[in-house]
Amino acid sequence: MLLDLDAEDKRVRHAWLCKEIHRHDGLYHTQDNPEISDGKYDALRLELDAIEKEYPDLITDDSPSQKVGASIKDGFSKITHAVSMLSLGNAFSRDDVTDFIERVKRFLGTSDAIEIFAEQKIDGSSCSLRYENRKLISAATRGDGQVGEDITANIKTLKNIPHELPNNAPDILEVRGEVYMPTSAFEKLNKAREEKDEKKFANPRNAAAGSLRQLDSSVTAARDLAFFGYALGEVSRPIAKTQIGILKCLENWGFDVPKPSILTTDVDELIQFYDGIIKARPDLEYDIDGIVYKVNDLELQDRLGFISRAPRWAIAHKFPAEQAVTILRDITIQVGRTGALTPVAELEPITVGGVVVSRATLHNEDEIGRKDVRVGDKVLLQRAGDVIPQIVKSVEHMDGSEVYIFPTHCPTCGSLAVRGEDEAVKRCTGGLICGAQAVERLKHFVSRNAFDIEGMGDKVIKALWEKDVVKTPADIFTIEMRDKISLTPLRAWDGWGSQSAEKLFASINARRTVSLEKFIYALGIRQVGQATAKRIAANYFTLVNVMDTLMFDELIEIEDIGPIVARDIIAFFNEAHNRNVVEALNAELVIEDYVPPTLVDSPFTGKIVVLTGTLTQMSRAEAKAKLELLGAKVSGSVSKKTDYLIAGADSGSKLKKAQDLDVSVLSENEFIEKI
Ligand code: IVH
Repeated sequence: MLLDLDAEDKRVRHAWLCKEIHRHDGLYHTQDNPEISDGKYDALRLELDAIEKEYPDLITDDSPSQKVGASIKDGFSKITHAVSMLSLGNAFSRDDVTDFIERVKRFLGTSDAIEIFAEQKIDGSSCSLRYENRKLISAATRGDGQVGEDITANIKTLKNIPHELPNNAPDILEVRGEVYMPTSAFEKLNKAREEKDEKKFANPRNAAAGSLRQLDSSVTAARDLAFFGYALGEVSRPIAKTQIGILKCLENWGFDVPKPSILTTDVDELIQFYDGIIKARPDLEYDIDGIVYKVNDLELQDRLGFISRAPRWAIAHKFPAEQAVTILRDITIQVGRTGALTPVAELEPITVGGVVVSRATLHNEDEIGRKDVRVGDKVLLQRAGDVIPQIVKSVEHMDGSEVYIFPTHCPTCGSLAVRGEDEAVKRCTGGLICGAQAVERLKHFVSRNAFDIEGMGDKVIKALWEKDVVKTPADIFTIEMRDKISLTPLRAWDGWGSQSAEKLFASINARRTVSLEKFIYALGIRQVGQATAKRIAANYFTLVNVMDTLMFDELIEIEDIGPIVARDIIAFFNEAHNRNVVEALNAELVIEDYVPPTLVDSPFTGKIVVLTGTLTQMSRAEAKAKLELLGAKVSGSVSKKTDYLIAGADSGSKLKKAQDLDVSVLSENEFIEKI
């Protein structure tokens, strides 16, 4: 009990400090809109600590001192998707669409017409809503496709989403769709932000995504978001046999679905639909960026399955790029993580397709020459969806303008820049000493699909590099430890404070466990994207195997890895400084071995299988995909290592070789029975 007047004053002051710190936490974390500097915030925290030290009785559970950075570290909790959320392959022309349908037919081994359902592709933020016993229990963002963020509280503020489903809905139902911001709401929001001198959103998609990622759902509620349903995730029982059937069910249960749509077997009708929607696009109340074509029959969808991260049964026919003419102010050179020198057009800012563009890529030296693009020119600029804006051509040269001369040396480190034989790209030869390359490699390392370290944006990486705090990826994981004994700790840097330093340490620590495939991707090996990283992980299982047993001949056996990519992978792991980085990282991290996604244990799991002859009940591609899904490695030739040869009709030399080597031979029927 506090009796003296001084203590009473302190109690009042303490209560005020608690309230005020909570308010600033909210402004800082959920609204990205701090009112006071880090220094002033730190002063409030110090005062709170001092009072609590003197009067420990005042410490209650909800004092900010009791949840050091709780709201900071927590952010959103994660939800693992029961069924992965995939992306879509793209088509840009009528031919691409015809190819898609041909691919589908080839895979299914049929010449029958295939019914295709076409609907609008909503340019928003994808989301999965989970209903259990007909009640909305959770909602998640797409995230990396496997794990998303829990945005349930925010989704519940949307007005056109049912919170309960009628009795005829299944016990478990996941509805996938797109959260979007209607264009009118977007314009209103940006106007209000402009008046408050806040940063405007670049487009409705960013506004929708930003609004969903608010820690305070009252902010989301005020943003006027809406949802379109177009697909399902996990379901406890099928609700329809076709895509059109799914949409009918969803509509009956109170969801909005994209409209209009069509069902047809005719490519011409698909293209007519596409052209019609392009015309109607400016009058729509929301942004779309293409048409999605889906095989209507769900049984066929199931057979077609997935490749990499996209379904074989659907494709997005993207709208053509939008173009505009502007002035080219300058050409600058950007150095990428592999040392590639990319020319960048610095433009007089102009709005293209609703987005203000001030920079565009000029690709490479030859491209500038071919297009004869010169500083000062009027240039035609184009932007298509998420693709980096590009310069199509020069429309008019300025009087006396001069041909652009591409630099011979790296603008960052001054090393010679060279072009490999048959390569369009000029690369800096500075390697380890080139700051630009190192910084780009670090940016890649912490990026969303790699280590995904929140709060480590480009500026932070650059500052950490320039101040010699982070030189290699492994340094990231020792910053906190070194910071404790540093004479210039992060909290004392310009624009930093203890709160932002703590926040950064927390997000780094949250990423100390990583899957092998993400780890490989994060290393930024030339030509190794996510799909290739996953394939390497799936074939080698552990980091030790990757480090010690990689072999060129084996690598090129892996799907989609050709000799050039294999050479780059081998070269990376042969390089001593790369091995040092990997080892230093291994000492700081838990790198999880690859676990094959097969839940069912099948006779083919871990086996090497060869297919030969003509199959009658499915195509060779379908059989291969099925085997791979079951954990088999499908190889092109029979050897002692082969576990099974699946022999269709008219099998020739492979069958003979298998018999000679005593390899188990399965007929098509025996194979189907086993799966
Ligand atoms: S179907 C298995 N239908 O586009 C894939 N996606 O670029 C299921 N999208 O990740 C997706 N409108 O977020 C589908 N009518 C529509 C869509 C749509 C927008 C999004 C979706 C997907 C992305 C791929």
